[in-house]
Parts: sequence; C-alpha cells; structure tokens
Amino acid sequence: MLKGRHLIEPGDFTIEELDGLFSLAERIEADPAYLRESCRGKLLATLFFEPSTRTRLSFEAAMLRLGGSCLGFAEPGSSSAVKGESLADTIRTVACYADAIVMRNPKEGAALVASRCSEIPVVNAGDGGHHHPTQTLTDLLTIRRLRGGFNGLTVGFCGDLKFGRTVHSLAMALARYAGIRMIFISPPELSAPEYITRGALAKAGVEYQETDRLEKVMPSLDVLYMTRVQRERFFNEEDYIRLKDSYILTAEKMEAAKKDMIILHPLPRVNEISLEVDADPRAAYFKQAKYGMYVRMALLSSVLGVL
Ligand code: NCD
Repeated sequence: MLKGRHLIEPGDFTIEELDGLFSLAERIEADPAYLRESCRGKLLATLFFEPSTRTRLSFEAAMLRLGGSCLGFAEPGSSSAVKGESLADTIRTVACYADAIVMRNPKEGAALVASRCSEIPVVNAGDGGHHHPTQTLTDLLTIRRLRGGFNGLTVGFCGDLKFGRTVHSLAMALARYAGIRMIFISPPELSAPEYITRGALAKAGVEYQETDRLEKVMPSLDVLYMTRVQRERFFNEEDYIRLKDSYILTAEKMEAAKKDMIILHPLPRVNEISLEVDADPRAAYFKQAKYGMYVRMALLSSVLGVL
C-alpha cells in the first residue's frame, strides 16, 4: 500500500510496489478515462524552489487529469522563503492546505527534511545534485514499455554523472534488477559519485565500468542515457565552458549503436544530442516525457489512496 507514503529516493518503494505503479500507469495509458475523476476534491501543492518544465507541468497535468486541483509556486521568489522562512515552517503550513506535496529544492536532503515535518505525502521532485525519484519512475516505465523489462540490460550513462541527480536515482534503482551492467561515460571531473559506484553498486554486486569514450562502448549498449552538463551546480563558469560539450550524440555516432538500442534523456537538452538524432526511431526522449505523466498519475492516485 502506497497510501500516505513519501517518495524521497527510489529505494523507498520495493520492486513489487514499483511494478504495481508501472502496471497502473500502463492501464491509464491504455484507457485515459480510467481514474479520471478519482482525485476530485484533492489538492496537490507543487513547491518549486528551482526551475522546471516537465516535472512540474507533468505533475500538474497528472493531478488535473485525475480530477484534482493544484496550487503552489514555480520559483522561490514568490514564496516566504525570500523573507527567511525555514523549509520546515513552509512545509508545516502547506500541509494544512493540501493533500500532497511535490517539492524541488536546490539543497541535497531538503526533501527528507520536508518529509519529516509533513503529515501529508511528500514527493521529491529533485533535491540538488542528489536524487530525482519520479524521473526514475519515468525512465523505468519507458524502458519497460520499449524494452519489455530490465533484467540483463547494458545501460550507458553519459555526460554529467557527478551532478546529474537523475543518473544517481536511476543507477540505484536499476541496481536491484538481475544481470544489469552499467557503463558510466564522462570526463574524469564529472564521474559518478563514489557512494554510488564503489558504494551501492559494488555492494549490490553490479558489474560496472567507467570510461571517457562514448564511441568505444556504443556497440554494447541497450540503453543510452544522455544528460546535460549541470551548469547551475558548477562552482565556476570556466569549468562549465570547458566541459559542456564533452559529448555530442550525432547521427554518425548512432551508426555504431545496436538497432534496438534506445536513447533516453531526462531533458532539458542543451547541446548533447544533435537535432538530427530526433528522427532516429531509437530516440525515445519525448515518449519518455509522456510516460512521465502517466506514471505520476499512478503515483498520485496511489499516495492519495483513492484507488
Ligand atoms: C532533470 C532535473 O531536473 O534533474 N530534468 C527533469 O526533471 N526532467 C535533468 C536536468 O535538469 O538536466
């Protein structure tokens, strides 16, 4: 039962609970009228202390499609955070008005803090460079729909693996499936944090490899997860400029990839995937954005307990 539960990082839900969410999302996709009025009278608060397009709008679209309503803010400048209010006080207040909270915050750990002072479910929509579990639900549902499952896949993560929270969450989530191989492709300065590679993955016995050469590993990948270099988390602009175009996926590079490989990207894209790749049937990033709405509909109806 997911009713009343928080979602702070992917490990908060069991594999069985995730399976249940994916099945529900697939049912909603097949029959958009299913659950249409289920959240009538419920309120979702979306508190975004950092910019967002897909995450916030897909949560709001999900809630509205379930018949519920939304309130909140899209930038901290319009909340009392600018007056110096603590996160705990903001959350306690919002919990008086709404039935669930979706929050994005630039500070790692902010979602956990919020969940500890909230009586209503808190969903982490990104906490700094740490986790982004609902992007992971989106990514997993996309892989399940397009590849039929997770076991035995070779997944390449490419780009900014240091600050990319979607990578951290997805790697931790995939580590729970059998026979997964991961290849981390980044410049050494942007490699995945050790708490994930040498920590969680090593402990789970996951086979992984780190490289800075995308071309070299391309033929072995079943899923290529591209990411943007996270400019807002750099300490200086010079480093960002030096690293921002480390990888650019082009149609030419795609020639070496498997015919059934899929390209994912949490979006927004900056330069890392050439526009010409969009026409490749293996490009799945806009489908992925759509699955994000279905899986958020499944999540909201579950944590709100309306099923
Ligand atoms: C990602 C994020 O916010 O971490 N975007 C998203 O939610 N789809 C990725 C990014 O910003 O690069």
